[in-house]
Amino acid sequence: MSKSPEASFSIKLKVLGIAGSPRRDGNTDHLLKQVIAGASSQGAETKTVILSELNISPCRHCDGCIKTGKCVIDDDMQWIHADLREFDRIVLASPIFFMGVTAQTKAMIDRCQALWVIKYVLKLPVAINPGKERKGIFISVGGTRLTNLFQPAMATVKSWLTTLDISYAGELVFSGIDESESIHLHSTALKDAFALGQKLVAVNKPE
Ligand SMILES: Cc1cc2nc3c(=O)[nH]c(=O)nc-3n(C[C@H](O)[C@H](O)[C@H](O)COP(=O)(O)O)c2cc1C
Repeated sequence: MSKSPEASFSIKLKVLGIAGSPRRDGNTDHLLKQVIAGASSQGAETKTVILSELNISPCRHCDGCIKTGKCVIDDDMQWIHADLREFDRIVLASPIFFMGVTAQTKAMIDRCQALWVIKYVLKLPVAINPGKERKGIFISVGGTRLTNLFQPAMATVKSWLTTLDISYAGELVFSGIDESESIHLHSTALKDAFALGQKLVAVNKPE
């Protein structure tokens, strides 16, 4: 028996996980792995990049991108730019370092100035498929329990996602998490991360 069009509907979303901590197998790494596993469990195609293992120089503000939207620095950001323009979902994971994201994460974000030029100077779409809905989320932990611990980093992440033509779909953040792997002592964090990954790729079937 042939399937109805509704039953055979499927959409394979591409999810990019970005690990921004310099500490391997630390708290944000574990949370990110669970988000990605949750997305993968729903059939999404996933890829994770580890910023500390890549060659990403800081932005020089040389304005070399200002006429073309292409960064003149030839390093790993060249292919990350392409991924950031193509993937349907972005999961950025960074712990809080001095109230912001890590240096590795900030270098990657600042290098998106070339994409800022595409959007605001050249007035072209940043997304490869401009009609497609794209979403991004932020995963973070901090060692302290300071009020508003995540607000400055969230402001940075929101500004970055706006530049990428990606809507901010929320965050999963935990304060008071300091020692490596102490996220495992939290009663729900890893389960919450898996569920968030599932939710991130849930799409409504067309009527
Ligand atoms: C350089 C540095 C700066 C940090 N700054 C803060 C901070 O401002 N606020 C805070 O709550 N924790 C801070 N921490 C603690 C980390 O956020 C915490 O150890 C976190 O669990 C690290 O996450 P990871 O295991 O994913 O690397 C800092 C840690 C380092 C190494």
